[in-house]
Amino acid sequence: MRLKRVAAAYFSPTGNTKRVAITIAEQVADREGLPVQEMDLTLPEGRKDVRSFGPCELLVLGMPVYAGRIPNKILPVVQTLFKGNGALAVPVVTFGNRSYDNALIEMCSELEKNSFHTIAGAAFASEHVFSPLLAPGRPDEEDRKEILAFAGNVSSKIREIEPGENDGMAAVPEPVQVRGEFPIPGYYQPLGEDGQPAVFLKAKPKTADSCNDCGICAEVCPMGSVSSGNHGEVTGICIKCQACTRACPMHSRYFDDPAMLSHIRYLTDHYQRKTVNEVFL
Ligand SMILES: Cc1cc2nc3c(=O)[nH]c(=O)nc-3n(C[C@H](O)[C@H](O)[C@H](O)COP(=O)(O)O)c2cc1C
Repeated sequence: MRLKRVAAAYFSPTGNTKRVAITIAEQVADREGLPVQEMDLTLPEGRKDVRSFGPCELLVLGMPVYAGRIPNKILPVVQTLFKGNGALAVPVVTFGNRSYDNALIEMCSELEKNSFHTIAGAAFASEHVFSPLLAPGRPDEEDRKEILAFAGNVSSKIREIEPGENDGMAAVPEPVQVRGEFPIPGYYQPLGEDGQPAVFLKAKPKTADSCNDCGICAEVCPMGSVSSGNHGEVTGICIKCQACTRACPMHSRYFDDPAMLSHIRYLTDHYQRKTVNEVFL
């Protein structure tokens, strides 16, 4: 089958998921002589429009793993704004060296429910936003080769699909089988360094005196939660994505919630081994 459109959609507060999703989509689109249509879901204004697809079209959907699943505030976006109408889809997750748990199987299930045909899926290790000790520098050159090889295999699989009548397919491809538990049991419970549950859902970043009120934190917050009048104040919900701590030119933003810091120490104590990427076709 020949594609008519390739799109890369992603939620990516600190940029790694975006890089992975675009690399895959570009590699597939290049082979078809097509451009890549980007759909950035990171900021609230990118999550307003319905995205409709159709036969002979491909969506590469990238999500970071949060607590072993798709970020819970973004799940409704995947559920309500993406309409497949028989398009192909490749869900891709990035994860910070602990585990992607059930995030990929969750994406497959949601995309299939929305009339996409999931033909491949992948989980790529990516430096954890909580600590540079977890998957440091990844995705690196070696990962990039694996990402490109995966995209090449996706292309070949699409070419092998026999076209049918009216832009359709002679036979609908079987949904890709990825690793994960279904029905999905729940979210990963973060632990503290004592091995006990660490609860930091309500943690918000603090602002140091070095803040020069430039407002970049308000511009990059995916939840639109930074007060526009006083940039030091986070009035809405915080998903701990680290977009603001990374983007602040004065390095004024930081978290000091004891339970969150304890969980980060737990992660660095237990998850510094090198994880492998996993692809499913
Ligand atoms: C709130 C939160 C929860 C996370 N949970 C997990 C997790 O369960 N497993 C894991 O391996 N990485 C986890 N990570 C790490 C991210 O999946 C990883 O850093 C991701 O690549 C970030 O993507 P981005 O650069 O597109 O923002 C978590 C990160 C955040 C902010």
